[in-house]
Amino acid sequence: MSEHVNDVTRRTFVRGSAALGTAALVTPTLGWVQGSDKIKVGLIGCGGRGTGAAGQAMNADPGTVLWAMGDAFDDRLHGSHRSLQNAHGDKIAVTPERQFTGFDAYKKVIDSGVDVVILTTPPHFRPEHFAYAVKQGKHCFLEKPMAIDGPGVRSVLESAKKAKAKGLNVMGGFCWRYNTPNRECYQRIHDGAIGDVMAVHSTYCSGPLGKKPRRANWSDMEWQMRNWQHMDWLGGDHIAEQACHAVDKINWAMNGKQPERAITMAGRQMREGAESGNIYDHFGVMYEYADGSRGFHDCRQMPGCWNDNTEYMMGTNGTCFVNSWGPTQVIEGPNAWEYDGPNPNMYQVEHNELMEAIRGKRARIDDTQDMMGSTLMAIMGRMSGYSGNPVTWNEALNSDERMGPTTYDMNASLPVMHVPLPGKPVSWNKWRGDNGSA
Ligand SMILES: NC(=O)c1ccc[n+]([C@@H]2O[C@H](COP(=O)([O-])OP(=O)(O)OC[C@H]3O[C@@H](n4cnc5c(N)ncnc54)[C@H](O)[C@@H]3O)[C@@H](O)[C@H]2O)c1
Repeated sequence: MSEHVNDVTRRTFVRGSAALGTAALVTPTLGWVQGSDKIKVGLIGCGGRGTGAAGQAMNADPGTVLWAMGDAFDDRLHGSHRSLQNAHGDKIAVTPERQFTGFDAYKKVIDSGVDVVILTTPPHFRPEHFAYAVKQGKHCFLEKPMAIDGPGVRSVLESAKKAKAKGLNVMGGFCWRYNTPNRECYQRIHDGAIGDVMAVHSTYCSGPLGKKPRRANWSDMEWQMRNWQHMDWLGGDHIAEQACHAVDKINWAMNGKQPERAITMAGRQMREGAESGNIYDHFGVMYEYADGSRGFHDCRQMPGCWNDNTEYMMGTNGTCFVNSWGPTQVIEGPNAWEYDGPNPNMYQVEHNELMEAIRGKRARIDDTQDMMGSTLMAIMGRMSGYSGNPVTWNEALNSDERMGPTTYDMNASLPVMHVPLPGKPVSWNKWRGDNGSA
């Protein structure tokens, strides 16, 4: 890790990320004839979201082709390839020699002659994959979250600076930012429809995600990779992996204002059995802002309980309720309003806009500021929940706690880290050293 990265502070994050947010129309530099030449897409992480995103990239532009695919596992890659071929025929131009598997598949996809990469592995790997893609001059679509720990956040911020210098597009998969009703609603909030936003409450309460019971022939590493949502080092726990969408809604309502600290009550009440890994099943976070405003976030993954995924904003001059799946966006107060317009598929909108930006038909896309603010907020929430103590923005950003093994070997013996207990700090750095498993 460079000295410079170690030096990142809250202030430099604000300045750097604000600068990254200034987009300018760019001329496409990679030799496309607008509307005709190919845009070669590489897919890294061929699971549910990756396959969906690749399909959306194919629909987004007549010139897109899927050029190369990479996955840790052969079966995942081939399942995805088959389904994309059925849906998109000749646009799927992934010859057998451009299908790569294993931990280094990402490098081979990036070096296969692609113009843009879709990064949709479990988020543990995102910083490393993004860094190499930027180094090799590729436009990037990164699914959320973009990192799961402080070192990962700093790595992504560094890579994003380099991407900016190279004029590369960086799109984050916080898909609600590309949702038409949400965009109109949040713009109204930023324009003052409810006055100053004093508090925001967001939820992401759902059932648990599917678990993968271990098979006899799977190594520790293979099983954890296939069951990644339940392993803290791969997904970052469900507040970072799934509920970060709802944390992002707080960040959006607050227009990117950085919370000073997070205070979390969290735990693991219902999850049991080895396949539940070591993650929690509920978090309740309070985000404190320097100006006295607050964000509150609750998320839960439990069966048989009330499910909810909404936001409620309280301003000095009104309130706003959003149920994005509704879709409902209602402002109450002097500027009462309710959205009543089109609601195109936000995942498709993402890739339409990305391809337009790559072709120079719209300003360069750089989602760094928003996506990394929301990612870091989710990480703060988890760190505070695990430790049982408040965690500041700077503590999370500058943390040296790197989750997971430092080298990857599919046959590795890798015991599951114990479930963190609030008040009894747990450290991946120490655990790795303690049992020598990585
Ligand atoms: N924006 C959204 O609405 C949304 C929805 C679902 C998932 N996601 C995000 O997308 C990402 C992927 O989720 P998913 O649901 O597709 O999971 P998934 O398990 O279906 O797919 C992940 C794929 O990555 C592969 N993989 C794992 N490690 C790898 C590595 N080091 N190199 C190459 N391939 C690797 C896996 O084998 C698997 O095929 C996650 O970050 C998730 O949070 C976003």
